[in-house]
Amino acid sequence: MRATLELPADHPGFSDPAYRRRRQAIADVGAAYRPGATIPDVEYTAEEDELWKVVSGQLAAKHRRLACGEYLAGAARLVLPTERVPQLGEVNQRVYELTGFHIRPVPGLVPVRDFYGSLAERTFMSTQYVRHHSVPFYTPEPDIVHEIIGHANMLASQVFAQLYQAAGRASLRATSDEALEFFSKVFWFTLEFGVVREGGEVKAYGAGLLSSYGELDAFRQAEIRAWDLMEMGTRPYDITRYQPVLFEAPSFDELVCRLGSFFADYDEHWYRSQMGRGAA
Ligand SMILES: [Fe+2]
Repeated sequence: MRATLELPADHPGFSDPAYRRRRQAIADVGAAYRPGATIPDVEYTAEEDELWKVVSGQLAAKHRRLACGEYLAGAARLVLPTERVPQLGEVNQRVYELTGFHIRPVPGLVPVRDFYGSLAERTFMSTQYVRHHSVPFYTPEPDIVHEIIGHANMLASQVFAQLYQAAGRASLRATSDEALEFFSKVFWFTLEFGVVREGGEVKAYGAGLLSSYGELDAFRQAEIRAWDLMEMGTRPYDITRYQPVLFEAPSFDELVCRLGSFFADYDEHWYRSQMGRGAA
């Protein structure tokens, strides 16, 4: 018995039966995986390899101008393939050698508590499918381009790897749904869509920004606000459009210090006391 793949009606692959079958076959690999086992290879098609080649080449060119230095240093250590879709097994092995983080295949979106909780054990749950070929520069959901170019390059940096693990530990201390939601919004506005001032310029460090071809061009036109945890943790966001508001850390050192402290301190008490203060 397996879950049948469902795509929403506005998904680019909704009315493409061959794509849906392909997604299902790749999801089955992730569903069958058990921790500790060797990650089986997926046989990517020539079309999927071509999409990776085009998108990763275009993103790398933008990263040189727009990504923060620590991300670029991680990418330079990981050295992802440029001509074909990387296998999770090889990425997992290399990231583990660099920072001790595991990349683990999953069939699709996983419950948020499982996703964040696994980070505490230095494990990142990753999808393996490739976005629909009709829109190579857009995906409505995390695909392997987002996971690997966005997150795995970050996880090849020990500084970011520590922040991810600290985030995972913080999520485990957020026992109520409200506290977890506050935490996940801070995660969204930092490790997914955060920006940092470097060399007098606004640079991207979030995996969502760094894996989005269009948003990398547009993010400097967003309203860039000063670092504010309370605002990040309570601000609604829409994952289907470019983020109209981003939050900037004043320097990379400050980012590590402030975000690291938040993750280290965060728990139900932190959430309740800060929210109570905000409401007073
Ligand atoms: Fe992500």
